[in-house]
Amino acid sequence: MTLLVYILLFLILVLFVIALPLFLILAIESLVWGHDLPTSRRGTRALAKTIQKYKPNAKTFYDLGCAHGILSLRMKRILPHLEIQAIDNSAVRIFFAKLKSKILGCRIHFQKQDIFKTDLRNADVIYTYLWYDLMPILEKKLQKELRQGTVVITNTSHFQNWQPIEEVITYPNVSKTPNFETLFVYIKE
Ligand SMILES: C[S@@+](CC[C@H](N)C(=O)[O-])C[C@H]1O[C@@H](n2cnc3c(N)ncnc32)[C@H](O)[C@@H]1O
Repeated sequence: MTLLVYILLFLILVLFVIALPLFLILAIESLVWGHDLPTSRRGTRALAKTIQKYKPNAKTFYDLGCAHGILSLRMKRILPHLEIQAIDNSAVRIFFAKLKSKILGCRIHFQKQDIFKTDLRNADVIYTYLWYDLMPILEKKLQKELRQGTVVITNTSHFQNWQPIEEVITYPNVSKTPNFETLFVYIKE
């Protein structure tokens, strides 16, 4: 009985030693780098469907601003043939994304980089779920760099000058945030 109590106490201690610092790192990191809200499961399924509809033979998929890699990991499970390049400028987020992909045995290229310095010329599909203020700068970069026919899908925030060929509404009854989890689908001309 006492041995069981000791084992239990030891396990609780280990949990605190690992879980507490981890929680603190993630909390501080979120304060410094801003929110990392992942695309929902429903949004991810809608994204996969949209890719299959507009670019069924896509090979290279970029998740620009991948955070902890949740979207990329789910996407690899749904469309395993995709070569996924997942980029984020937070070293902590990329560290955890890489750790998760190792544990799950998922081959994804996670990279710590500024998305505005990433070479996107070989992309077939690009996906972003970014702050509104970054969209005009991204739009300019994509306009200059992408090959004709590249599919670009943005979540919630969208471009000012490009015309989407479709708007996929994933949450029809949510009105608080405009365009919440609506996917804007563009094809580079
Ligand atoms: C809302 S999260 C999106 C996560 C993921 N793409 C998804 O949809 O689940 C946005 C991420 O973009 C990253 N980010 C913002 N600006 C960036 C930049 N210039 N270069 C790289 N990553 C950036 C942030 O660090 C954050 O983790």
